Amino acid sequence: MKKLDKLIDGNKGWAEGLRQEHPEFFSSLSRQQNPEYLWIGCSDSRMPATQLVGLKPGEMFVHRNVANVVVHTDLNCLSVMQYAIDVLRVKHVIVCGHYGCGGVKAAMNNSKLGLIDNWLRHVQDVAEKYEASLSQITDKYKRFDKLCELNVIEQTINVCQTTVVQSAWARGLEFAVHGLIYSLEDGLLRDLGLCITNEEELLAARKTAPALSS
Ligand code: CO
Repeated sequence: MKKLDKLIDGNKGWAEGLRQEHPEFFSSLSRQQNPEYLWIGCSDSRMPATQLVGLKPGEMFVHRNVANVVVHTDLNCLSVMQYAIDVLRVKHVIVCGHYGCGGVKAAMNNSKLGLIDNWLRHVQDVAEKYEASLSQITDKYKRFDKLCELNVIEQTINVCQTTVVQSAWARGLEFAVHGLIYSLEDGLLRDLGLCITNEEELLAARKTAPALSS
């Protein structure tokens, strides 16, 4: 109960495997990181960010929270974004949600789970914003899928509207903001058709956002 032997042993095996593949892996990685991607994903244990896109340590900067929400006053998420964009100079910022998201489901069902209800209120705001199109979907599973997609789209737009991204674009930094969704059932990512690299593309995305989700 008090021991984490399974994890310590697992870590030894993992490090050994990487060392056998590339003997210099850890010594060179310990000197610097140069990731091209920032991933903002759900905390769900079934969504291991770096692994599911086949990247190695050092290749992706990661921020995760319940239901991959990007809130304009969340200093944690904003700090991760600012460091990734201004200091690490990532070329892609990815918001990745997933179908079957427990956070989105709780928001949709107005479940009372405790403190987290406050966090999921942001997903309820998304549901209310798209109430007209969501209410037309009679199948509750399809409606749930749709809200998972709309949440990614809204959070991707939120990324673009943060002071961090706005200021970086104003200073001429070049990077793209994307919205992806992951399926737990087949392990595959799906591109939601958002790729925003400047203010004009952001305005266009805000207009077409509802149509982007299938
Ligand atoms: Co989730």
